[in-house]
Amino acid sequence: MAILLPGGAGFIGSHTAVELLNAGKEIVIIDNFSNSKPSVLDAIKEITGKDFKFYEMDYLDKEKLEKVFEENNIEAVLNFAGYKAVGESVKKPIEYYTNNISGALVLLDTMRKYNCKKFIFSSSATVYGDPETMPITEDCKTGGTTNPYGTTKLFIEQILKDIYKSDNTWDICILRYFNPVGAHESGLIGEEPQGIPNNLMPYIARVAAGTLKELSVFGNDYNTPDGTGVRDYIHVVDLAKGHVKALEKLDKENAGLYIYNLGTGKGYSVLDMVKAFESVTGKKVPYKIAPRREGDIAMCYADPKRAKEELGWEATKTLEDMCKDSWNYIEKHR
Ligand code: WQD
Repeated sequence: MAILLPGGAGFIGSHTAVELLNAGKEIVIIDNFSNSKPSVLDAIKEITGKDFKFYEMDYLDKEKLEKVFEENNIEAVLNFAGYKAVGESVKKPIEYYTNNISGALVLLDTMRKYNCKKFIFSSSATVYGDPETMPITEDCKTGGTTNPYGTTKLFIEQILKDIYKSDNTWDICILRYFNPVGAHESGLIGEEPQGIPNNLMPYIARVAAGTLKELSVFGNDYNTPDGTGVRDYIHVVDLAKGHVKALEKLDKENAGLYIYNLGTGKGYSVLDMVKAFESVTGKKVPYKIAPRREGDIAMCYADPKRAKEELGWEATKTLEDMCKDSWNYIEKHR
């Protein structure tokens, strides 16, 4: 019995692959390297000392996907193959809807054909739009996404709910990630954004490394303690461990459909992040205050209670760990 990881060579997929292998699971990765590198596969093997099967392919290729199911006894699928750049999604909606939504449908249809009905979906806090209350619980209203990336997450969540309604022998877990950052402590795998990063932590890391001149802080007039945006940054290894726990939950008899926030429950501002990064690395992070970025919200942090109570999972790594591990990865890869 094996767990299939489409997009398993990517940032979150690779860290989850490590945690699954460490938990003694057999995995199969498929990836087309559209936003990752083949060397990640060796790094996963080096970290875990374990081997796994790999297919270089697009997860939209139904014929090849069926072959993967023919050749392996797949018991569950964790889908990491989605595109995830917010700005790019605004410019390329067709590509985003095709890859994320059609991709998920091809996957789910193939799973059904091979009677594999355990699915874990990488969703995002972005499905909450501009939340009315903080912290955000899973019961908060969803909708009001401001870009095609976020809308793909919202639509796929709905598709999964409809599938479950039509056939409750499916076991589905929707994981709503807050802001994943950091890297594996070995420094062998981490986040490799192509071009200039859009997300805060990789941008700060590149400013500290001297590859980018200064950080633009997008707005300091929000209704937050220091005026800059507040987010729930979560270490990618904590996040990866959440998937192992979610899988355990689905392995229980008559599981069902579940939704969990994966966050720490703590909010940090942009300036908190700058200060933490400077103090951990000893490097200066020059910044300037810039106008607000369109589509941004003031605050977003999780109530992670449900995941703790029902999965026995909680984030354990600190902001310091997040900065240290990001920096370690950058230092090893520049
Ligand atoms: C964090 C804070 C910015 C860059 C997005 C997606 C979400 C998830 C994670 C993933 C905000 C500020 C940022 C910069 C800045 N998806 N900032 N200068 O926007 O919370 O979430 O990424 O794949 O779905 O929406 O994350 O890291 O872009 O921004 O001041 O150069 O940092 O305004 O307050 P965000 P982020």
